[in-house]
Amino acid sequence: MEKNILTGIKPTGQLTLGNYLGVLKNLHEMMDRGNCYIFIADLHALTLPIDPEVLRNNSRDIAAFYLAAGLDPNRCALFLQSDVSAHAELNAIMQNYMYMGELSRMTQFKDISSKIAAKSDAKDAHIGLGIFTYPVLMACDIVLYDADIVPVGEDQKQHVELARDLVVRFNHKYGDILKMPYPEVRKVGARIMSLSDPSKKMSKSDPKGDIFLKDDLAVVRKKIMSAVTDTGSEVKYDKENKPGISNLLTIYAVTKNMSIEDAEAHFVGYRYGDFKREVADAVCEDLGAFQERYRKIIESKEYERVLKEGAEKARVVANKTLKRVKEAVGLLTL
Ligand code: TYM
Repeated sequence: MEKNILTGIKPTGQLTLGNYLGVLKNLHEMMDRGNCYIFIADLHALTLPIDPEVLRNNSRDIAAFYLAAGLDPNRCALFLQSDVSAHAELNAIMQNYMYMGELSRMTQFKDISSKIAAKSDAKDAHIGLGIFTYPVLMACDIVLYDADIVPVGEDQKQHVELARDLVVRFNHKYGDILKMPYPEVRKVGARIMSLSDPSKKMSKSDPKGDIFLKDDLAVVRKKIMSAVTDTGSEVKYDKENKPGISNLLTIYAVTKNMSIEDAEAHFVGYRYGDFKREVADAVCEDLGAFQERYRKIIESKEYERVLKEGAEKARVVANKTLKRVKEAVGLLTL
């Protein structure tokens, strides 16, 4: 049977090279592997304060990024999470089957809530309920489409694992209702690090040392050229002792679609400066073409029709699962 593949991106902040190399860049290959459900997790974006206009623009951007990354709307369902009400409806049911204890152990929740709590201004120090229950909605996103494969970066793996726990728990109680998903984390590129501090993940909320997908290419080049490197002079993959160089090697390897070993072999005898220049060339070439496609899509507004049609396709599948769950738990479906 064909596999179902599902993933989403949350429209908060500017997407980074981490999102691109970790997930976006290879998404188009997924269409050969099964039925793809690819969405914009706009309800998840509300879990932290966000300006409405910024949210709208970010959502448009992500739709255009997906298309620029080669997703063919005729071969997948590309949609907005909030356009398919089954996500919110299933969320209302599933929140009863996930526990406070497990949610409070999620790394993302711990990181974000401790940052909020540390804010000096008490009026900004509230932790919304949505950030706590975030993984419940994410599990609903996944199970609604009977997803077999969930391609994500390293940081989201824990949430997919929690979704797996939910499936076990729910099916144990009600029978074989939900499909078991697997997180698919790329061997290379699943955790692109910050260029200014390679001990930290590159993330949308941390502008220092991060490359944003809409950055001017001159800025991208500058950021790579001033990336933190390590002591020594050899270009070698060694995450422990050479985290900066290893990160740049990873960026190069994923950009060029090659293995780390091949990338390492390519740079034997290189000095750091020349190495960085070639990494910058490779990223700028790839990102330049991507940005060009993105601009055309944004101008043509092609994404509007795509999202509408995508939501129609998604609703049919999601509503079927929702009905199955409602019946299983004892809600009357007349
Ligand atoms: P989000 O929007 O934070 O990130 C989108 C995807 O990019 C990956 N990613 C990275 N990969 C490599 N290196 C990095 N530095 C890096 N930073 C981010 C993320 O792991 C993710 O795969 N909760 C999700 C959105 C979501 C979702 C879902 C995903 C909602 N429902 C259901 C899968 C299935 C999120 O906030 O990703």
